[in-house]
Amino acid sequence: MNMGLSTLLDVGVPALLISLAVLLLMVHRELGPFAGLKEGGKWLLMGAFGMGVLAFGIKLTVATAVAKMPERTVGPLVAAYTRHEPADAGVPALPGAPPRLPEHYVWQALPQTAPAPADNPTTPEKVALGKRLFFDPGLSADGTVSCSSCHDLTGSAGADGRRTALGIHGKTGSRNAPTVWNAAFQSVLFWDGRAASLEEQAKGPMLNPLEMGMPSAAVVEKRVAGNASYRGAFARAFGPDRPITLDHIAEAIAAYERTLITPDSPYDRFVRGDRHALDTAQLRGMALFESLGCVSCHKGANFSDASLLGGQFPLRIFPSRPTPFDARYDLTADGGAAGRSGRGVWRVPSLRNVALTGPYFHNGSVDKLSDAVRVMANAQLGVAMGASPGRTLYWSPEERVLSRTEPRAIGDREVEDIVAFLNGLSSDALAKRDKN
Ligand code: HEC
Ligand code: HEC
Repeated sequence: MNMGLSTLLDVGVPALLISLAVLLLMVHRELGPFAGLKEGGKWLLMGAFGMGVLAFGIKLTVATAVAKMPERTVGPLVAAYTRHEPADAGVPALPGAPPRLPEHYVWQALPQTAPAPADNPTTPEKVALGKRLFFDPGLSADGTVSCSSCHDLTGSAGADGRRTALGIHGKTGSRNAPTVWNAAFQSVLFWDGRAASLEEQAKGPMLNPLEMGMPSAAVVEKRVAGNASYRGAFARAFGPDRPITLDHIAEAIAAYERTLITPDSPYDRFVRGDRHALDTAQLRGMALFESLGCVSCHKGANFSDASLLGGQFPLRIFPSRPTPFDARYDLTADGGAAGRSGRGVWRVPSLRNVALTGPYFHNGSVDKLSDAVRVMANAQLGVAMGASPGRTLYWSPEERVLSRTEPRAIGDREVEDIVAFLNGLSSDALAKRDKN
């Protein structure tokens, strides 16, 4: 028996019988004698009241039945009954009038290729050369560290699994190594967004004393040019008479990085039409990701507003409001692009493969993805943790602003749902390798 009918029998019928009995008693015992009504009048009054009770009973039953239905059944029903034509329907759009914006956030799948700049088109020769350079420890001062030492493409999904990076001679930096997977879609690179392209970025690590530690561009160029097979590969990639320069080295690496993209996640399959690619918990998490406002920063196909696919505001304040997490995870010592400690300014990172690339944040201070979600919800969106958060006041001495937030709250279950959704952003291929 379906939900509606069984509810009708469970709730509706007893309610109706009881109301009719009450009516019968009321009209015949109380109202009838009081108003001096004859038998016929009493039954007429009964009929009139009875219709009202019946209508109320039907409404109650329908409401109960709808309330018991699962959300995905009710959503379309409500939409069907509340849909109304736009006020100006039928009026032809003026030429050049802006298209009507969709009311909801539009989810997008990752394109199958990454955009390349006009002055460094992606060619198979460049990609092959770039791949070789990416894995070559010969580009570091002591021959021990390659790009792949800190960006382990398979083992750690393009990151290194450490809090902060480990360079030559065991030197550690102060920032966490982000993944290189899908970096090709980002409009600015590094945690603080200081590099404007992959080409510009790739020159950094070779000369960084804490990373690959080469003394100068000339030394890198000489090292590569000293290898006959590299000379052949460079000639194939850039033309026979072109010199081997740090710029060309960086261009080849960048071309290779543009092939490191992961359009093969459950989320992408879902958005492309496979309705079973995400499970119910993941869909709940996806809805929360939108309704809480994560999409205001982690937006678009690469889950970052620092995107070549139409991003707008690549850098944001983080943590944007003080929370106990500041001290627990030392979130304000490094201010990123703000250049001083305190509330820093950071590039919005992509969340693709994020379940595979912990620990989290610029300083790698948070080990669990669920805790990173708690920090984000609380610090960036003012969403409190737990059932009844109450009202909070926040005084900003620099800006002399007293803001009052009445934060919405989420509990562990919501956090788990968001984490489940974020797991759906992991590449099938990388997630499988990660398990092995
Ligand atoms: C010693 C470890 C180490 C080595 C070696 C290394 N990196 Fe990195 N990489 C990092 C760290 C740490 C960051 C973040 C630094 C920051 O934001 O200040 C980073 C950032 C990046 C980014 C930016 C990603 C993003 O989302 O912004 C790319 C791309 C990248 N590295 C590519 C490379 C390439 C190419 C090489 C080799 C030429 C290389 N890395 C060598 C540790 C390393
Ligand atoms: C106002 C902008 C903004 C909002 C809203 C926002 N984030 Fe972030 N998110 C950032 C920035 C900036 C960072 C980088 C922080 C840093 O530098 O350590 C970040 C980092 C993260 C990270 C860590 C990524 C990594 O690789 O270490 C996760 C996970 C994350 N956000 C998830 C979320 C979720 C889930 C929400 C919604 C509850 C959310 N974010 C809302 C701006 C935002």
